[in-house]
Amino acid sequence: MTAPMPISLHVNGEKVDAHVLPRLNLADFLREHLQLTGTHVGCEHGVCGACTVRVNDEIIRACLMLAVQAHGAAVQTIEGLSDSGEVSDLQAAFRDRNALQCGYCTPGMLMAAQDLLKQQSTPSRDKIREHLSGNYCRCTGYHAIIDAIEAVAKARRRPAP
Ligand code: FES
Ligand code: FES
Repeated sequence: MTAPMPISLHVNGEKVDAHVLPRLNLADFLREHLQLTGTHVGCEHGVCGACTVRVNDEIIRACLMLAVQAHGAAVQTIEGLSDSGEVSDLQAAFRDRNALQCGYCTPGMLMAAQDLLKQQSTPSRDKIREHLSGNYCRCTGYHAIIDAIEAVAKARRRPAP
């Protein structure tokens, strides 16, 4: 089937109606149709994690999901998490600890890190590594990323003054 199909979904809290080709993946839909270019595309076959987004509260690889499969779903991208302030502490920690260089992996890393910290408030370094094992970084060597996430986990546990 090659005719565009209608889809309706929520992206970062806003309703989106569109017509898309059935073969269009969600990453390309977000980037090219909605100009949400914070979702990066690296390998395009589910390996690198650069395209990680949240669909119905679960992180998924947007290069492996068709846009038509997101019909009716609630999608959140790094722009949504960033604008709401949900990951502002993670972003600051990544900056402070040099956990990004080129930044290509960073949106996916932040999505994965936030997913972990929502599930576990005291993840071990091994657990952080494991949770991020599907997100590749060609620049940092990963230690600084683990440091940043560990620091945020600790800070979030601290009672507010
Ligand atoms: S671009 Fe989707 S996992 Fe690499
Ligand atoms: S900062 Fe360059 S790929 Fe991770």
